Amino acid sequence: MGLTQDEILTRLRENDPEKLAELYRRADAVRAGHVGEEVHLRGLIEFSNICQRSCTYCGLRRENRMLPRYQMSAEEIIAGAGEARARGYGTVVLQSGEDLNMSATWLGDVVRWIKERYGLAVTLSVGERPVEDYRLWRECGADRYLLKSETSDAELLGDLHPPRRSGLPIRPELLGILRDLGYEIGGGVMVGLPGQSVASLARDLELFAELDLDMIGIGPYIPHPGTPLGEAISAAGGGAAGEAPRSDDQAPNSVSMTLKMLSLARLACPEANIPATTALATAQDGGQLLGLKCGANVIMPNLTPRMYRERYEIYPSPWRAEGADGHSAILAAISEAGRAVGQGPGGRRRG
Ligand code: 5AD
Repeated sequence: MGLTQDEILTRLRENDPEKLAELYRRADAVRAGHVGEEVHLRGLIEFSNICQRSCTYCGLRRENRMLPRYQMSAEEIIAGAGEARARGYGTVVLQSGEDLNMSATWLGDVVRWIKERYGLAVTLSVGERPVEDYRLWRECGADRYLLKSETSDAELLGDLHPPRRSGLPIRPELLGILRDLGYEIGGGVMVGLPGQSVASLARDLELFAELDLDMIGIGPYIPHPGTPLGEAISAAGGGAAGEAPRSDDQAPNSVSMTLKMLSLARLACPEANIPATTALATAQDGGQLLGLKCGANVIMPNLTPRMYRERYEIYPSPWRAEGADGHSAILAAISEAGRAVGQGPGGRRRG
């Protein structure tokens, strides 16, 4: 809300607890004023961990041969959507690795069946695809699309995200195309990637506002030992990106930096739907409650069947190994925050 880049930078570099509490309070007030007291629940179904990309931070990267791959059947996915319906969630999120062998018509049929049978809002998060696929899924009834840019630092992204498919527009441009197709669009970043500067985080926030994002996902980077980036961090003897800085302006992958980003994202995009992410809960017990108090208004309970969930290992998380979807913990956090469980599809409200 009208913060200049300088003011944003000051807040990102702020460590005074009182000033931070003030930032969080302000974000919480803006959240209350624009999206209200409801916390919308989105049932997350991680339907395939097959991925052709080589992102250096992500455990699903194709070079990770330690990971057994799976692909859920249409019936299994639809059963998951039924579970979302039964629990009263208004939205189901279908997420997977990026697999161009996955047929667009197959996923389109799944979307159509879910819409027909359960009337849920459907969010897709399956990566960079040809525009015709995005169009087809929209025609089948998909409502929203998540495609995080991960960082606005082009050079850093080039290191983390090799190789890019030639000819395909970059992610911010793809988001514009998705919006024109009629999707609500979601973006976001990781916080504390090695080589990620605090200054670039300030630019990320500016980009969120420029793109007028409907949904913004922000989580701490969590090193995965089976990835080049995670290995580099343990080789440097650090557990966290902040301990192995590449520059003086290195952003730490801390809960505190993530909460600053969350609050500032709420101020930059007052109407956006912003989740308290699982990565935040992984970084700290009770992380989702903290997120709810710093501007977040969405939680995404995991509905992936137990036998698959462990294998969707984008980063190591005790939650996944335990197979818990955290449903009761999530309801407890919502009530502890003094908020209500959202009803209906919970799309973007324009005020
Ligand atoms: N730490 C935190 N988040 C990660 N993601 C992938 N790998 C990691 C990691 N090591 C996030 C990215 C991606 C989403 C599916 O998961 O933001 O967009």
